[in-house]
Amino acid sequence: MNTPIAIIGTGLAGLSAAQALSDAGLSVTLFDKSRGSGGRMASKRSEAGSLDLGAQYFTARDRRFAEAVQQWRQHGWVDNWHPALYQARNGALALSADEQERWVATPRMSALTRALLGGHQVHFSCRISEVFRGEQHWTLLDTEGNNHGPFSHVIVATPAPQASTLLSAAPKLAAVAASVPMEPTWAVALGFARELDTPVQACFVEDSPLQWLARNNSKPGRQHPLDCWALHATSSWTRQHVDSSKEAVIDQLRGAFAELIGCAVPAPSLSLAHRWLYARPTQAHEWGALADSDLGIYACGDWCLSGRVEGAWLSGQEAARKLLEQL
Ligand code: FAD
Ligand code: NAI
Repeated sequence: MNTPIAIIGTGLAGLSAAQALSDAGLSVTLFDKSRGSGGRMASKRSEAGSLDLGAQYFTARDRRFAEAVQQWRQHGWVDNWHPALYQARNGALALSADEQERWVATPRMSALTRALLGGHQVHFSCRISEVFRGEQHWTLLDTEGNNHGPFSHVIVATPAPQASTLLSAAPKLAAVAASVPMEPTWAVALGFARELDTPVQACFVEDSPLQWLARNNSKPGRQHPLDCWALHATSSWTRQHVDSSKEAVIDQLRGAFAELIGCAVPAPSLSLAHRWLYARPTQAHEWGALADSDLGIYACGDWCLSGRVEGAWLSGQEAARKLLEQL
């Protein structure tokens, strides 16, 4: 049997690379520090069901990604979302309908990555701390002190700040990853026992601590016993409140929500908060993926392209393509 390829990260970038490599007949082993797949497309379990607290939806502008999305749709893994879309500026809400096709995984965002995991070998709750090369092969060391290997190649598919450490065997790649700042985002979910009296299902927000809000129940396949909303703070508000307690963040973002939504907002029956430290790169890049083909180590992730779901998937494809062309 061929020596497998290690992929660190089971977000969409890592799984995209895994699929392309296994389609080419290679065997892959995936690692993730979390208990499940999805990364920033993860959904948070709650007493009202799984709620999307990271990526909210995605668009498909690249032809290759659009084709993949159509296949996922045929499998029933994704569906269109047509929310009643608003925008809020200076506190004024206005309908902001458009023609943009938007997609969500069903019945929760993380379901797409669960489906893409397929039968790949995967180690969850396994945080890789070091990646090193012997004479011929790669070995990974996790934070519990376990060695994993041998691997023929390694693909690092984590956010840039985490990738730079894992890429230390390839200093040029590590330096590129270290040059990519990523911004944080506070995300809050609120669940109300009675449906809020508003037609809004999603809203792009300006001039507020919030930049986005969405009614999770308006997405296809979600059946929550509560009227559940996801609120995302702006990067700048998050930076200013990065060390605030979850309670304080929930309180302040709920206040901002109540101010702009234009209807009575009672005390929520459910509230939770999640801080994404590496939510998005400060700018887009055109790297596709990073490669040191002589060593056999690669890096991919949304930060190599557009900082969106589509960019993550395309970057994973590009890492796999670069690896395959060296075989
Ligand atoms: P990730 O999803 O971050 O995956 C990286 C994986 O690596 C994670 O699972 C992590 O646990 C794992 N990992 C990290 N370090 C280690 C380690 N040392 N060992 C093992 N595993 C490790 N995009 C859109 O297109 N539309 C949106 O509406 C949208 N909204 C967003 C809202 C928020 C709040 C956030 C945070 C992001 C949003 N995005 C959105 C961006 C989108 O989620 C990302 O672009 C995409 O999911 C990134 O995928 P990825 O595979 O590159 O990285
Ligand atoms: P998109 O085309 O729907 O949105 C792109 C941007 O265009 C929006 O952020 C918004 O500012 C504007 N926009 C689009 N339609 C609008 C409308 N009808 N009315 C008013 N403004 C509108 O989706 P795309 O390009 O796929 O972007 C994905 C989304 O993911 C963006 O909203 C982006 O902000 C969000 N994102 C959030 C992150 C976070 O950490 N909170 C991280 C990465 C992406």
